Amino acid sequence: MESAQSERLRRSSGRGCAMRHDGSIVEFQQKRGGDSAAFFVPFLTSDTILLDAGCGPGTITVALAGIVGSAVGVDIEPRAIAAASARAAEAGLTNLTFAEADMTALPFEDGSFDAVFFHAVLYHQSEAVLTRTLAEARRVLKPGGFLATRDADVGGNVLHPEIDGVRLALDLWQRWYEHDDPKALFFGRRQSSILRAHGFTPVWAGASYVNHSADAASRSEAVADARRSLLGLGPQLVGKGLAADDEIQAALAGWEAWGADPDAVYFRCRCECVARKD
Ligand SMILES: C[S@@+](CC[C@H](N)C(=O)[O-])C[C@H]1O[C@@H](n2cnc3c(N)ncnc32)[C@H](O)[C@@H]1O
Repeated sequence: MESAQSERLRRSSGRGCAMRHDGSIVEFQQKRGGDSAAFFVPFLTSDTILLDAGCGPGTITVALAGIVGSAVGVDIEPRAIAAASARAAEAGLTNLTFAEADMTALPFEDGSFDAVFFHAVLYHQSEAVLTRTLAEARRVLKPGGFLATRDADVGGNVLHPEIDGVRLALDLWQRWYEHDDPKALFFGRRQSSILRAHGFTPVWAGASYVNHSADAASRSEAVADARRSLLGLGPQLVGKGLAADDEIQAALAGWEAWGADPDAVYFRCRCECVARKD
């Protein structure tokens, strides 16, 4: 069952629309789809009513809609919802709707969903917001329904070769997150314990990778993404005294060197968890 559904998920995903807080994140999101949710597929059926909370541009929601009975994507950003809706229309999906909504105050009745998905959403929430978000997810889930989360954990990333400038780039991103919220960097490994602490019963845990080095094209996309991200974040890092200008330049040069190596790899870890509402 898993491989057939995963294949349908992969086929129904793809590239397209846009939206979020800055351009580099938007472009990154557009590159992902079904692979990001493959771990959740064994818990879904053609009768499942699914909520994708914090759906962003709807890339993953559209992929999941291909295998469930019906799906709803919500996001607080109107531009994300517009892009996601356009994406669904383009895919000709009739079992999928998108709505602008705050995941801490969902506009749905109790027990409306069989499954709730959070992808790259929970890791940056404060304790208070996370508690409200998970309480809402619990409320809108039917008893026996499943909640799935997938979030990053920098402890699992794989980089080769260890080019100084790329290490520096990763350190610059880490400095930014440490400045903002140190715990977010290692959120992935804590998902099961967090869900249990909020009243869910974890039933499955795992991890997978975002692959930035499948071939020359994905390596050059990775370099372009890194470049956009560093150029976007650089002034803020420098402005907050977290980095010097020459460090940004060294990091950019590091990515160029990494991209020029045909055997370079960069795999980014994503931890995954499925929990049940008993
Ligand atoms: C990193 S993006 C992930 C998008 C999508 N899940 C994906 O992985 O492609 C996080 C998303 O959560 C949304 N978001 C943040 N806080 C939210 C809230 N309180 N209610 C609804 N959406 C929210 C953001 O607007 C953004 O689109």
